[in-house]
Amino acid sequence: MIIAIDGPAASGKGTIARALAAHLGLPHLDTGLLYRAVGAAALEAGVAFEDTAALAALAAGLDSARLDAEALKAGPVGEAASRVAAVPAVREKLLRLQKDFAGQRGGAVLDGRDIGTVIAPQAQLKIFVTATPEARAERRYQELARRGEAVTFEQVLADIEMRDARDSGRASAPLMRASDAVLLDNTGLDRDASIAAALALVADRTGRS
Ligand code: CDP
Ligand code: CDP
Repeated sequence: MIIAIDGPAASGKGTIARALAAHLGLPHLDTGLLYRAVGAAALEAGVAFEDTAALAALAAGLDSARLDAEALKAGPVGEAASRVAAVPAVREKLLRLQKDFAGQRGGAVLDGRDIGTVIAPQAQLKIFVTATPEARAERRYQELARRGEAVTFEQVLADIEMRDARDSGRASAPLMRASDAVLLDNTGLDRDASIAAALALVADRTGRS
């Protein structure tokens, strides 16, 4: 069984994906980490976001087994990730890895922006998770504050709105709800209620509670 979880920044898709994977005993891939790793590598090497050949080379050289999720979740990396994610050659280099992850393990939960539309259009269950920009910014703000990053709520909201616009507006695999994806708006839901709503969708689809 393949489960595809897509949605905008800080919608809670990673939290839901991890919970469903644990519940069903399936492996989980946070595909955003791949783009974050390329974005972080570009920042570190001083590669310009216009240099698409160099960005594609960074994506091709990515060691997906050695991604440091903690470091890659830092604030500035999200912006860099969304810049490199708009480059078709970068997406192309990361495609096989993600499709193989979905296909070769007898099941998986993947979360990102284009799982239901591009990576695993055959998924048995697709959930498009969303919430208002303000609710998402508040969540990300709390998260960054816990990590000790010095940011304001307004900065986080501006970053999220810019990233939403770039991710939805790009020509290559834009963020969008697949026509057969279930919409889960968790604006008024806390973490546990949001996970419970997703588990109910799984039970409904598979007969497993
Ligand atoms: O956790 P958050 O939603 O803030 O970001 P993420 O899922 O780690 O993704 C970071 C960036 O990678 C996004 O803003 C997208 O531009 C890009 N991304 C993508 O294009 N396609 C995916 N399947 C996953 C992420
Ligand atoms: O993966 P994505 O960027 O979509 O979001 P996440 O990393 O799963 O969640 C962002 C933050 O929102 C985490 O600190 C969650 O605990 C929190 N949160 C949530 O996931 N769901 C809610 N309904 C409310 C808060």
